[in-house]
Amino acid sequence: MAPAQAEIVAAEPAAIARAAGLLRAGRLVAFPTETVYGLGADATSDAAVAALYQAKGRARENPLIVHVATPEDAAREALLDGRAERLAARFWPGPLTLVLRRRADTRLSPLVSAGLDTVAIRVPAHPTALSLLGETGRPVAAPSANPSGALSPTTAAHVGTSLGDRVALILDAGPCPLGVESTVVDASEPDVVRLLRPGGVTQDDIEAEIGPLAGPDDGPARAPGMMESHYAPRLPLRLAAGDVAADEALLAFGADAPAGAAETLNLSPSGNLDEAAANLFAMLHALDRPEFAAIAVVPIPDDGLGAAINDRLARAAAPRTSRAAGKDAA
Ligand code: TXA
Ligand code: MG
Repeated sequence: MAPAQAEIVAAEPAAIARAAGLLRAGRLVAFPTETVYGLGADATSDAAVAALYQAKGRARENPLIVHVATPEDAAREALLDGRAERLAARFWPGPLTLVLRRRADTRLSPLVSAGLDTVAIRVPAHPTALSLLGETGRPVAAPSANPSGALSPTTAAHVGTSLGDRVALILDAGPCPLGVESTVVDASEPDVVRLLRPGGVTQDDIEAEIGPLAGPDDGPARAPGMMESHYAPRLPLRLAAGDVAADEALLAFGADAPAGAAETLNLSPSGNLDEAAANLFAMLHALDRPEFAAIAVVPIPDDGLGAAINDRLARAAAPRTSRAAGKDAA
């Protein structure tokens, strides 16, 4: 018999209360955030976090993001210095994840940190996520709700299709407004703040607050699982395409897309990068069909949310061998 499919329920107060009860009982619940849907587990429970790694097929050395309802809840589990406090005050709730030192008395399972002495934390801005965190009354570990290495989900249906048989409940609040994951910065070392993953908050906005950021490679600390293939559709991706073949699907952007594709979806006909980010994963999901030979993607400008979009596209196009080895996948 096929495993049971999780119910997809509208994120009304009664459903959120039910989801919170399931989380407190150690079960897995998928829920919307402003970036992408997350696969949640009680971050204080070793068993729940272990089940989360198992459900995603995620490498145990790749740590998880812990979601909390308020900056005070973050400070209860991790150490925020002056720079981290400025970033939290400016960007929380919102799509910024801070990698911080764990407090000695944290309640968080060591599994969320994959053995590191740091933890990645954020306060999400989505009202459903915030009520769920408030009702649960505990920090919730939540990677994107997709099987490891696959495309991130921006609708409840995406989650149902890929992980529906491995979660207890899926809360549905419609498509995620932002569409790309949070920006991850490492503020755990003295004197340097490092950009580990571009995302929903731009580098310019962060630098306006605290000055220049270091890159992931300037120095010894490197995030586990950052570079190899990831966010990938099943079809090969062809980036910076100036033309398109008749058997290819085309992901276009702006007014003048090349003609002749088997099917074309446009991230933003008007050339708006916020709109493009919101459409990115849903359009990749929609074009990832076996009747096409590949997905060609036109060049996307790198400013604003373009940096996050181009990061996801580059990883989706990366050679798949590392993914098969189970190395990098979030
Ligand atoms: O927008 C988001 O961030 C979504 C929603 C659900 O909140 N979550 C998400 O989680 O994208 P995930 O697990 O797919 O990506 C987490 C990223 C990974 O690249 C992981 O390696 C990094 O954050 N990370 C987590 N903990 C870390 C730590 N202690 N040090 C360095 N990197 C860490
Ligand atoms: Mg992910």
